[in-house]
Order: sequence, then C-alpha cells, then structure tokens
Amino acid sequence: MKELYVNAPAKINLALKVAGLRDDGYHEIKTIFQSISLADRIKLKKRSGGIVVKNSTVELPTDEENLAYQAAEIFFAENDIAGGVEVYIQKNIPIAAGLAGGSTDAAAVMRALYDLYELEYDCSELRTLLAQIGSDVPYCLEGGTVYAQGRGEKLEFLPFIGEKDILIVTPQFCIPTPEIYSLYDQMKIKNNFDFDKLLQNIKADEKINWDLDYKNDLEAPAKKICQDIKDIKDIIKKTAAEFYLMSGSGPTVFAVYKDRSRAEKVAARWPRKNDFIRVVKTIDRY
Ligand code: C5P
Repeated sequence: MKELYVNAPAKINLALKVAGLRDDGYHEIKTIFQSISLADRIKLKKRSGGIVVKNSTVELPTDEENLAYQAAEIFFAENDIAGGVEVYIQKNIPIAAGLAGGSTDAAAVMRALYDLYELEYDCSELRTLLAQIGSDVPYCLEGGTVYAQGRGEKLEFLPFIGEKDILIVTPQFCIPTPEIYSLYDQMKIKNNFDFDKLLQNIKADEKINWDLDYKNDLEAPAKKICQDIKDIKDIIKKTAAEFYLMSGSGPTVFAVYKDRSRAEKVAARWPRKNDFIRVVKTIDRY
C-alpha cells in the first residue's frame, strides 16, 4: 500500500490582541501567525478501510479526540471515499504549549491525504473544512506570516518576515486554551495596543521593528496559572534577545536573536533543566 511522509510545522504568534467575547463563546482576535522549523513528522499509509492513528507519545489520544483523526474523517466523508489510512505522528512539538501542535498535525494529514489519494484540492475550500476542527487549523494548511482575524480562521497572507533565529522554551506545564480565555474575561484586561501599526510594519516589507508594541493579551491570564512563564522571561531578559513573547495561549516563550550562535549559547547555558528548549528558524509559506 502506498505511503507518504510529511512535515507539520509549529507556529508562534508575533502578537495577539483579544477584541471581545462573541455570542458563540469564542473570542474575536487579531493575531500574526508565523511558522517555525520545529515540526512533527507524520507517516501516512493507505489502508483498505478505517482510520488508525498512532503517536510517538502516550499523552495524545488515538481516537476521534485526536485532531489528525478528525481531519481524516472529514477527508473521507467529503470525498466519498471508501478507503482508509494509517497515520503515525512523531511528536516533536510540545503538547498544549501555544505552538498549534495538534492543529498542524490535522492540517498536514488533510494535505497528505489529498496527495496519497491523488486528488486535487483548493486551499480556500480546504481551509473552510479545517475550521471545523479548530480555530488555527486553517492557518496551518500553508503557514507563513499571516494576519488572522475572527476566531483565528480569517486569514490574510503577509510578506514573510525573513529567516530569524528563534529560541523556543516550553516549561513542563500544559495550558488548556479555554481556561486562559475565560481567565482573560474575568481579569477584565484593558488593552490598547496598536495592532494596525504592527500590520503596517510587516506589510511595508521592511525590517521588522521589534520596538513596536508586539504583545500578547493572553500572557497576563496565562502567567496567573503558570509562574514558569515569568521565570523564563526573566532569564531571557538577561540575554541579548532582540525580542521575546509568550506564544498563543502559552506557556511557550520564544525569543528572537540576531544570529544562531547567540541563540545556541543561551540554549546551551539554559539553567532550568526540565524545560523543552530548541533553536529554530522562522519559515515561509509551505
Ligand atoms: O478553536 P479551538 O477548538 O482551538 O478553541 C478551543 C477553545 O478556545 C474554544 O472552545 C474557546 O473556548 C477558546 N477560544 C476562544 N476564542 C478563540 C479561539 C479559541 O475563546 N478565538
């Protein structure tokens, strides 16, 4: 039976602004997504029928709870195909860490199934299907530097910010996204950071200006349940990072360095032994 290997890259959020709670329980957001080279590796193999999902870690479900499983279900239903697939996910991206690990697996499985079954697809139609799985799954279909609105599914592709050297630090603490959003509501945070200025900066396709107000509104609620975020930022503050911020709903913190060797030095001397730490690169639309 035919098989295929694909990469499923993680993302970071260069900025995230919460613009209000909607009637459907979701929050209206404005964010800038950026793909990074940290990626899960997924193997897909055709089966005569049924969906089987296996993971390299026992921490993830293998049934309908798994977002990659959901993507496969949608693929077979949408295309009226009687076949099946076996999916093996080599998890390299930390789970529930603000890096879209589950979402990117779902998007990659959807892409790969079209290739495996030799079917054409339209990205914009596929994004609509993927929005059923989760708010940032449509973005993960192609990645790159993207401005997202709505609950995170309305996308506008931006010029790539260029290849940057990034340090990723994730403490051993899983963050449930809904909890962070409801904590955000309870905290009644007043935000007034100028998102349009950030967009102008990236759209102008000039050098990214990290002195602008690149912020994440979910950082305050996330810090409330996870002290590690502040501790990690305190360590990064003493290094030569150009910029650093929490990603998504956390707890991952990323830091941008002028060159790879600086980032690697920080990683090599990292004092907190239980953190997941990697030096990666920003990547363009795939
Ligand atoms: O869309 P997704 O399944 O990833 O969202 C998980 C949960 O996070 C939602 O059920 C909702 O509670 C919260 N969320 C939100 N606003 C968003 C995205 C997610 O409130 N824009």
